[in-house]
Amino acid sequence: MEEGMMLIRGSDSAIDLPSILTEEEKWYFDLQGYLILRQVITADEINQMLRLGSHWLEQPDQAPLPLRVTVKEYGGVINPLPYGDRIFERTSLNEKVLRVVMGLMWNRPRLFNCALVQQKKEPISAGEKEKLHRDTSGFDFPDGFRNPHNDYQAGNGQIYSNYINTAITLVDVPKENGFTCIPGTHKSEINFPDSLDIDNLWAPAETFELQAGDCLIFSPRLMHGARYWKMAYPRMVIFNRYQFSFYFNENYSLPLKDHADRISADQFELESIQRGKKEFARRILDKIKRGEKLC
Ligand SMILES: [Fe+2]
Repeated sequence: MEEGMMLIRGSDSAIDLPSILTEEEKWYFDLQGYLILRQVITADEINQMLRLGSHWLEQPDQAPLPLRVTVKEYGGVINPLPYGDRIFERTSLNEKVLRVVMGLMWNRPRLFNCALVQQKKEPISAGEKEKLHRDTSGFDFPDGFRNPHNDYQAGNGQIYSNYINTAITLVDVPKENGFTCIPGTHKSEINFPDSLDIDNLWAPAETFELQAGDCLIFSPRLMHGARYWKMAYPRMVIFNRYQFSFYFNENYSLPLKDHADRISADQFELESIQRGKKEFARRILDKIKRGEKLC
């Protein structure tokens, strides 16, 4: 190549990056579009989170700035959760979960949303059915086009999913409740026919029996949604949304610089767009290399 014609290259090319997912995890995620990690947080942590979350939903004026609490008749949302209390960093910065998220996006995750969602049992009129969707940021790409903001690719024994959601449940979830998806649709190139709904044999949506503390990790390219909540206690789930920390910015407001004192330096870095490897990611990779337990 002529002098002066060199391409601009980072020193962190992903080409030789070994995946930190196991072969079984890669196989399963590529096939299904989701993984379930059991018990990623402790009963103590769950209780603390439930206590804070319920309190803020009951008395939104007691929620610390800059939390936004939205209360509806049959549920509510608290966002951006880690600014409420450091305990919630145990969901977004959880090493067990981050190992998988990092393995799906070349070790460069950026958190762009963290929210607690409450969903209560509500009266459902006859014939009303749950809807499924893929996550976009409001711009649906036409048929046959790939949305670069919600992309899924696998090749050479690696997976690149530039957008990953995690859902950590704070309560037990029986089947036919909570998260539902049609496995494998993260790779589907055919649009979901308008004529189908969730209970159709052509749309085999699954639900998952979960215990408080379990984590669902899924590609938001999966056709997914939530089943109506049928239990007497409310559904309480924390969603963390990660994107490849490189080309995309799905949320310009995070990290909240004016409230940076409410989160850790690791959390601030996790929420930041950054080209190079992040410190917490380096630590997790070192722990894995040394065979140490992730927490
Ligand atoms: Fe979604």
